[in-house]
Amino acid sequence: MTTKERVISILLNGKGQSFSGEELAKTCNVSRAAIWKAVNSLRAEGFSISGTTNGGYVLAQNQEIFSAEFFESIFSKRFPQFSENHTCECFSEIDSTNTYAKKLLSECGNLRNQNTELTEAGKKLHTATIIAESQTAGRGRLGRTFYSPCKTGLYLSIIFAPKGGIKNPASLTAYSAVAVCRAVSKLFAITPQIKWINDVFLNGKKIAGILTEGFTNFETGIIESAIIGIGVNIEENTSAFPKDVQNIAGSIVQNGDSCKINRMELAAEITGQVLTVLQEDPNSVISEYKSLNFLIGKELNISPIIDDEKSSYKAKAIDITEDASLVVELSDGTKKTLNSGEVTLKSKYHT
Ligand code: BTN
Repeated sequence: MTTKERVISILLNGKGQSFSGEELAKTCNVSRAAIWKAVNSLRAEGFSISGTTNGGYVLAQNQEIFSAEFFESIFSKRFPQFSENHTCECFSEIDSTNTYAKKLLSECGNLRNQNTELTEAGKKLHTATIIAESQTAGRGRLGRTFYSPCKTGLYLSIIFAPKGGIKNPASLTAYSAVAVCRAVSKLFAITPQIKWINDVFLNGKKIAGILTEGFTNFETGIIESAIIGIGVNIEENTSAFPKDVQNIAGSIVQNGDSCKINRMELAAEITGQVLTVLQEDPNSVISEYKSLNFLIGKELNISPIIDDEKSSYKAKAIDITEDASLVVELSDGTKKTLNSGEVTLKSKYHT
């Protein structure tokens, strides 16, 4: 940790408490001049730190801090088991956090050596979170655009590169949807549901979507890492969305009470829950996924990805398999197992 990171972490954890330069210098084991330099650099980054030579430094409360330092300070407290070597980068605007994560992975070369140990680059990237306040080219599933307006949403990508690679790529999206549900229920006391396969809904409207992409090592053929991209609508901002999305887009906050939402806290909670879920027993995560899913028992209009209306058919969703495929039953009793890449669902729940 740099001095700047240590200082902001102390001030954040102090929750409005004042710390003298001497105290900070002692704790960080640096000179008072180094503390002064760190504080000035934090101020330049937008942190509102008041302080006089004698009075000590205080971080203003209730300001929304959108920074990697703030993320790390929350994340390391809540999820210490994942915080060592975890990397975070924050942007006020970016094309797409998934695209950026891919670029980082392709630039860094191998994440692990022949003995499957992390390389130096791998140590930095094997779990990382890229966060943005807005995206100019946010991507959704099936080549769609994911509208990512500023301030009212949270857009993040988690890089996950476990030893042995990604064994169950198809299930990652489903597991991550469970994690997003856990995070938002924990922080906001709401009860979201999942629409197979990647959408998180609240009161019949979509509040979050997930786009998981794999990064394959062509020499070994192993999917070395996954990029789990998550977009959350926090506040109602329907005017920022195109007409077709306006009807379906919901938000966590429904009564304009946005000040309760701290986006870095949400990002840290989502990251921690995703990494937790990915370590759990897949069977129990899938049962949770099933119980959160609201399509089971519903009549659906299913059409193949190739937009061919003629080939669409009606069927009832009856189950979800252990690899997160959807089992549907046609009117003649035939059962079909659909995986995420095969279909889009057209129903009143269509996004
Ligand atoms: C969907 O609903 O189709 C998936 C949406 C995924 C959006 C997120 S936002 C962060 C990350 N970056 C992107 O460009 N897409 C994902």
